[in-house]
Amino acid sequence: MKRWLIIGVCGVCLVGMLGVATAQFARPEDAVRYRQSIMFLIGQHFGRIAAVVQGRETYEPQAVARNAELVATFAQLPWEAFMVPGTDSGTGLRATAFSDHEGFKAAAENSGAEIAKLAQVAAAGELDPIRAQFGVVGQSCKACHDKYRGR
Ligand code: HEC
Repeated sequence: MKRWLIIGVCGVCLVGMLGVATAQFARPEDAVRYRQSIMFLIGQHFGRIAAVVQGRETYEPQAVARNAELVATFAQLPWEAFMVPGTDSGTGLRATAFSDHEGFKAAAENSGAEIAKLAQVAAAGELDPIRAQFGVVGQSCKACHDKYRGR
């Protein structure tokens, strides 16, 4: 009796997970707006860290830690919104993200892992390691943009 209940519940989970990429958004335009908004925020907060590591702004440990934490949170959000069919036309997403779904996912996961490390390093409050990890994250953004971003 209990076992059937568990199987039933898992079946519902699975169907839910498979439908998630499209079902989350009422319209394809919403997916585009969602991911571009998140990417814009990531760019803003990552840019504030850039200003510090490049010496244009003075180093305020708490502000850098906060920005890194925000980027780490935002970086968990946009990837499903890149998988909605048809949303490569007229946007910065290249169709290769659909034909090479696994590669795109791997680029997202790699970047996410490096961003999480940046948040940890930033919380520790030493500028040199922050600068080093900032560079690693920047490369991970670029790796995905080079392959899957068209403009
Ligand atoms: C897994 C792929 C991937 C990763 C990782 C990634 N991006 Fe992007 N990014 C994209 C794609 C694709 C677009 C274009 C989206 C569109 O136009 O719909 C984009 C767009 C952007 C934009 C423009 C947003 C706008 O205003 O429309 C900024 C800024 C940006 N990314 C910054 C970053 C930064 C900073 C990182 C790393 C911390 C990063 N991205 C990591 C794929 C990625």
